[in-house]
Order: sequence, then structure tokens, then C-alpha cells
Amino acid sequence: MTTEETSAILQELVTLLGSGRCLTDEDSCNHFGRDWTRFATPNPAAVLLPESIAEVQQIIQLARRFNTPIVPSGGRTGLSGGAVAANGELVLALDRLNRIIDVDPTSRSITCEAGAITAQIQEAAKSIGLHYPVDFASSGSSQIGGNIATNAGGIQVIRYGMTRNWVSGLKVVTGTGELLTLNRGLLKNNTGLDFRHLMIGSEGILGIIVEATLQLCSPPTDTAVLVLGVKSMGAIMSLLQRLQGQADLLAFEFFSHLALEKLIAQQGLRAPFDGASPFYVLAEYERQGEHSDRELEAIVEQVMAAGEADDAVVSQTIAQAKSLWQLRENISETIARWTPYKNDISATVSKVPELLVKIGEVVEQRYPDFEVVWYGHIGDGNLHLNILKPDSMAPEEFETKCKSVSEELFKIVDGCGGSVSAEHGVGLLKKEFLHYSRSKEEIALMKSIKRLFDPDLILNPGKVVDMDTAGRGDS
Ligand code: MLT
Ligand code: ZN
Repeated sequence: MTTEETSAILQELVTLLGSGRCLTDEDSCNHFGRDWTRFATPNPAAVLLPESIAEVQQIIQLARRFNTPIVPSGGRTGLSGGAVAANGELVLALDRLNRIIDVDPTSRSITCEAGAITAQIQEAAKSIGLHYPVDFASSGSSQIGGNIATNAGGIQVIRYGMTRNWVSGLKVVTGTGELLTLNRGLLKNNTGLDFRHLMIGSEGILGIIVEATLQLCSPPTDTAVLVLGVKSMGAIMSLLQRLQGQADLLAFEFFSHLALEKLIAQQGLRAPFDGASPFYVLAEYERQGEHSDRELEAIVEQVMAAGEADDAVVSQTIAQAKSLWQLRENISETIARWTPYKNDISATVSKVPELLVKIGEVVEQRYPDFEVVWYGHIGDGNLHLNILKPDSMAPEEFETKCKSVSEELFKIVDGCGGSVSAEHGVGLLKKEFLHYSRSKEEIALMKSIKRLFDPDLILNPGKVVDMDTAGRGDS
């Protein structure tokens, strides 16, 4: 866009929103122009704060007329660069569209605007004795629209599944400015293609999610947290199988000793017990009475007697459970200061042992000089492999080195039938690796579908797939 075109659209946007909701100051542009990734310098033309769906539609129509790209922005807690605006785009921030519209105990659902914060939804569910179960460390700042656009997972997927499982209705503004009302909050609706599921996880390339209806469930009761120090990654998977036979698991997570060391050094957290283990498992479960508690204790004792685990602790109070959870939930924030190169891979749970062995070998051979922090939702088959940048190394050199190893890792992931992005999405960072998880035909179909919903290619350009803007030869 020429400078004249930019100032012409900005003038119209100020007329539409007022200067207080069309921000161009440096602080706002820096704040709204990126997510939690720190690899790109934010450089949006403006940040727009609509307060109604009609305003979102008008913004899209203006963007179409001026052929100006739009980057949708939620809580910007993403980890793949999906909300980065580095090329003079307009950031469309949903922060002011944040009302809870309806809390319905009979349908067990909540309808809210896209900018509602996850924790706000969880609280609203609690106020009627129900539970919104998609939860993660960033629930205090992530917005539901962003969660849906990335199909966020989190810490209790093993019990409740991903965000997709809980969305029963959506309102979406497409790249032509049309408002689609998808599935109307219905539990049963077999009326042809379900565009709701196309929008979930589409990372803002098909439409702007402006409203959602979410299903709720009964809250879990009497939960406890078990942390176990284990000797090997292999031992983790056999423990999972044994615990699943006995306990109603809400979460089954793991982290490596280096993660624990960083938490202790950076955040002053306490180790779960004396003595160190190479890995730690954190399992949360719903207690089923004293008999079941004894059965669980017996499993832990057997695992320790077999030499697979060193020590274990079970929470006795809610406060203790919370502080044990900090050992897992605070890792991402703690290691952020080393600008980690993040891998977020998955395989079916039965393939995880094979994946762990093969990935472990590559990591040992190819990253001898880097600190490698493992953690993740291993009960879902999802591993977060974080490579920490040495302070002395330039970011570009670090990225190049990590990327070359990623190719090797993703070949292994592909060979195990897994995914190169289990929950963080594709955004900018995983785009070049998408072909390890999706076929050429699938990627071509994604591009064709994008053209249907966004014919002028104004929505989140450059994210997930690269479109051919000169002609139609995307595939
Ligand atoms: C987590 O599991 O902690 C989140 O996905 C964030 C991260 O991977 O760093
Ligand atoms: Zn995660």
C-alpha cells in the first residue's frame, strides 16, 4: 500500500471508530503487533478496537476496498506467530467485544463475544455450578476467540479433549464481510457441511470469530495430584497405562529435570521431594474413595520397587495440589528468557515410546551444546521439546541451527504418523514444515477453501499457507 492509500483508509477508520479505537502510537503497535513469539518486529499500520459485530463487518469491507491485510488479535498468547503483524497490516483486536451474552444452565452452555477471557468464562460457568474444562497456564489472558481460532488444547485434554469439543455455535465474519451463524448452539444438527469445524483451528485465515456458544460440564470433584520422579521416558508410558486402568485421569503431564532446575533457580519453586530424577510425571485424577487410593498407592510402590521411579508425592490439600501444578504450568514462562526454539509434536499414544526413542537419539547427537528442556502433555501423545538459546549466540545463528535439526525431527514425526504442531498451530513458524503432516492435496484444498471465504486474501496473509497473489496457481 502507498502512504496515500494508508492515510486514506486510516481516515475512514477514524471516522468509523473514533481516534480512541484506531490506534497508531508506537506502544499500541508494539503491544498488539505480536504474540508470545519474539522473532518478528511488530509493524502494523494501526490497531482497531471494534465494539460490535457491525463494526467488524465495516472494517472488513473497508479493508477489502483498500486491499489492506487484516491480522485478527485475541489475547496474543500464541506460540507460532499467528498474530504477528510485521508488514503494515491492520490489527483487528477483539478486546472490546468481550461480553458474556448468555449463561444457560438448562442447555449447559455459555454464549459470549470473542474477546471474553478464558478465566472469565470459567468463572461464569462456576457461578451456575458448571465447568468449562479447557484450561491452560494462559487462561488469565487468552481470549476465547483466539482459543477457538487455534483449537487450543491445554492440560486436561486427556479427559476433556480440545476446544473443538466444546464449541456448539459460532458467529464468524468472512473475508467478504458477511456474517455466518454456524450451528446455533445445537447439540444435534445434521444439515450438511458443518462450517463451524472448518473455522475452529483456522488461525484467522478464513474469518474473524466474533461470538461463540460453548458447552459446559459438571465439575470434577475431589481431585488429587500425584508427582512421581521417574528414571526414563520409557517408564512414563508404562505408568500411564497402569494408572489409566485404576484412576479417572484429568491430566497426565511430564517434565524433565532441567525444567525443574530452571523453575527452582528462576522462580524459587520447591522441588516435589528430596533427590533428583531425570523426569517427573504429574498426574491429576478424581479420587474414587479409599479403596481406589490404596490401589493407586500400590501401583506407585510397584513402579518404585521395579526401579522405574525414585520417589512420589500425592497432594493432601488444594493448596498443595496448586503448588505441584506450578511445577508444570510455570515452565513455559520460566524458560522464555532463553528465547526457546519450540517444537510441539505429537503421535498417537501407542506410538509415543517409538517417537521418544528416535527423537531422543537425534537430540543427543545434534544438540550436544544446547540445553534441551522437555515437557508436555504426554498422556495425549504431545511433547514440547524446547531448545534454549545460549546467551552468547546470535538469534539468527541459533534459529538456523535449530531449523536444520527440525527437518530431521519432523521426518521422524512423519514416519511415526504424527503431527508437527499438536496444539500451537502453524502460524508463521511451522508453515514451511506443514508438508510433513499434511499432503500436497490437502494443502491445495486448504488454499482453495481460503479463496472461498476470503477471495481478496486480506485475512491474516502469510499465516498457515502461502497464497499465490499474482494468479490462482496456489496448488
Ligand atoms: C504448555 O504446555 O506449557 C504450553 O503449550 C506452552 C508451551 O509449550 O510452552
Ligand atoms: Zn502445551
